[in-house]
Amino acid sequence: MCGIFGCVLRDGNAAPIIHSSLKRLEYRGYDSVGIATLSNKKIYIKKEQGKIDEVHQLLNLDNMPGNIGIGHTRWATHGAPLQINSHPHTDCKGDIAIVHNGIIENFLELKTELQNLGHTFVSKTDTEIMAHLIEETQKQNPHLNFEQAVLASLKRIEGSYAFAILSTNQPDKIICARNESPLVIGLNDNAIFCASDIPAFLSLTNKAVLINNGELVTLSTQGYEIKKINDASPITRNPITIEWTPEMAVKQGYPHFMIKEIHEQPQVLCNTLRIQDHYLDLLSTFLDRANEVFLVACGTSYHACLAASYMFSKLAFLPTYPVYASEFLEQHGKSVNIDSTILAVSQSGETADTIAAVACAQQRAATVLSLTNTIGSTLTRISRVYIGTQAGPEIGVAATKTFTSQLSVLAQIALKLSKKRGKISQDEIDSLEEKLQQLPIVVETIVTNQEEKIKTLAKKYSKTKLFFYLGRGISTATAFEGRLKLMEIAYIPSIAFPAGESKHGPISLIEDGLPVVFVCPKDDTHKTVIGNIMEMKARGAHILAIIEEGDEAIKSLADDYIEVPKGIPSVLTPIPYVVPLQLLAYYTAVEKGYNPDMPRNLAKSVTVR
Ligand code: F6R
Repeated sequence: MCGIFGCVLRDGNAAPIIHSSLKRLEYRGYDSVGIATLSNKKIYIKKEQGKIDEVHQLLNLDNMPGNIGIGHTRWATHGAPLQINSHPHTDCKGDIAIVHNGIIENFLELKTELQNLGHTFVSKTDTEIMAHLIEETQKQNPHLNFEQAVLASLKRIEGSYAFAILSTNQPDKIICARNESPLVIGLNDNAIFCASDIPAFLSLTNKAVLINNGELVTLSTQGYEIKKINDASPITRNPITIEWTPEMAVKQGYPHFMIKEIHEQPQVLCNTLRIQDHYLDLLSTFLDRANEVFLVACGTSYHACLAASYMFSKLAFLPTYPVYASEFLEQHGKSVNIDSTILAVSQSGETADTIAAVACAQQRAATVLSLTNTIGSTLTRISRVYIGTQAGPEIGVAATKTFTSQLSVLAQIALKLSKKRGKISQDEIDSLEEKLQQLPIVVETIVTNQEEKIKTLAKKYSKTKLFFYLGRGISTATAFEGRLKLMEIAYIPSIAFPAGESKHGPISLIEDGLPVVFVCPKDDTHKTVIGNIMEMKARGAHILAIIEEGDEAIKSLADDYIEVPKGIPSVLTPIPYVVPLQLLAYYTAVEKGYNPDMPRNLAKSVTVR
C-alpha cells in the first residue's frame, strides 16, 4: 500500500501542494518519498528513502519548477526502501515519469522482454517496467500520442495498479489509470488533483470523482476525461461532494483504524495472492533442506506460526516448532546450530525479542528466513531470504489484517513445500489453491453478513467478567488469537486452551452463564469438539460458536453462533474464522467505551526485551 498524488494547476507551483498532500497520505506508507514536476518540456525529480519530513529537510521538496507534477509515498513491496527504488520511476530517456500503487504480477516477463529490446533498468521495482513499456510502445508506434501509448501499454499489464504518469510528449497532462488500487480525482477552480485517497486533497476541495477499475483518466487545466481501458470509450461522471472531515477521511469514514483494517482484509488477501512465485519457491526450498525448523515470533505473529505448524505438518509432512521469541534463547539457544532453520514472523520486523532470537540463531550459523510486513526493517536486513506480507501499514495497535496476511503467505509456502515433497495429491493441491483464491470473497461475505449480528452479541456479552476461547487442531491458534484480541482492547480477562486440554484444569472455572467461545469448523476435529461443547454446557457454560454455515449439530447446542461460508479446508480455516473474533473484540471494546486503536500499556512495535 502506497500513496500517490498528482496535480495540474492553472497557475502556481505544483511541488509545495504535492509535498503537503503526500504528508496527508503518509498513513499509506512512509519508507520513501518522491516528486516529479514538469516545466519547459523537462521532467525534474527529487526522491529519497526516509519519512517525508526527513527527505524534505534534505532535498527541499517545495523547490521544484512547474505547475504540473506527481508524487509518491512508499511502503516497499518490490525492492528495498532505497533511493533507487523510490518513485517516481522513469524511462531510459527521462521523458516519462510514473508513480504507482499496486503490484504488477507479470513484471519479470515484461522486464526481460524490454531488456532484450535494449532498455536499461535502474531499480528493482515492478513499477519501472511501465515507464519503459510506454517508451517502447511509442517507439514502435510513433503515430500514438502519450495517452494512446499508455492505453496500449496497460493492456499488457497484469495485476493491481493506480498509476499517475507524466510525459514530455504531452507536457500539460497527467494520465492516471486504475485496476484494483484506489484512485480519486479532486477539482477546484484553480486545479485538478489525482490521489489514492480523498484526504490527500480534502483541505483543497471537497469535490471528488471516484474512478472505477478498468478506467483511465486524463487530467489537464481543461478538466478531466475518463475512458474505459479496454476500448477507449468515453465515460461521463460528475463530481460528488464529500462531507467527511479530514480526520474521518483518513479513516475512510470508519470511526477507528482497527475496523477500517478489518474491512481491508479482502483486498489485503488479494495482494498476498500476488506474491511472486519465485520468492515462495526460494523460501520453501530452504525449508525443504532444513533438519529442524523453528517458527519464531511474538503475540499475534506467534499465533500465525502456531497455525503454520499445522499447515506444514498436514500439507508437507514437515515437523516445525513454534516458539515464543522471548523464550527462544532459553529453550533452544544452546542447541540451535548450522543445520537449524529459523522462520521468523513479525509485522514490524523490529520486535526486540524476535530480533534477539534471530541474532542468536545467526551466531550459531543457523539459516534465517523471515516474513514481515515492513521491508527495510531490521529483520529483512538480517535474514537470508524474506517475504513481505503485503498488508500495507497497520495503524491500529491490535494486529488484524497483518495476521490474516501472514497466514495467507504461510499457507502458500506450505503448499509450495507440499508440491516439492510430493506428499499430497495434485488434485488436493489444486483444490487448496482454488480455495485460497476464494478467501478474499469468503472474508468479504463474513464481514458483510455477520457484522450487525456480532455488534448485538458484543452488547450482550460486554459485561462479562471472564471469557473462555477453545478450539482443536489448527483452530487452537484461532482461539488463541481471538482471546488475545478481546483481552488487549476490551480488557476482559480471557483464557484460551486447546479444547482437549480444558478438562485437565481450566474447566474448574466454568460456572453458570460463563461464555465459552468455540471455534469449530467442520473438519476432522468436529465430532470431538461437539463432545467438548457438551462438557462445557453440562457445567452451565454459555456457548458462542463460530461454525460453518448450516452446521445444525452445533447450532442445536450453542446459545449463539456466527456462521462462516461452507467448504473451507481445515488448514485455511484460521483466515476466515478469526474475522468474527476480531469483530467481536472490536465491538466489545467500543461498547465498553474504550478506544480500540490505542489499548493501554501496549505499543505497535515492542523494541525492548
Ligand atoms: C497483538 C499484537 C502484538 C504483536 C506482537 C508482535 O494484536 O499486535 O501481539 O503481534 O507485539 O509484533 P510483530 O509482529 O511486529 O513482531
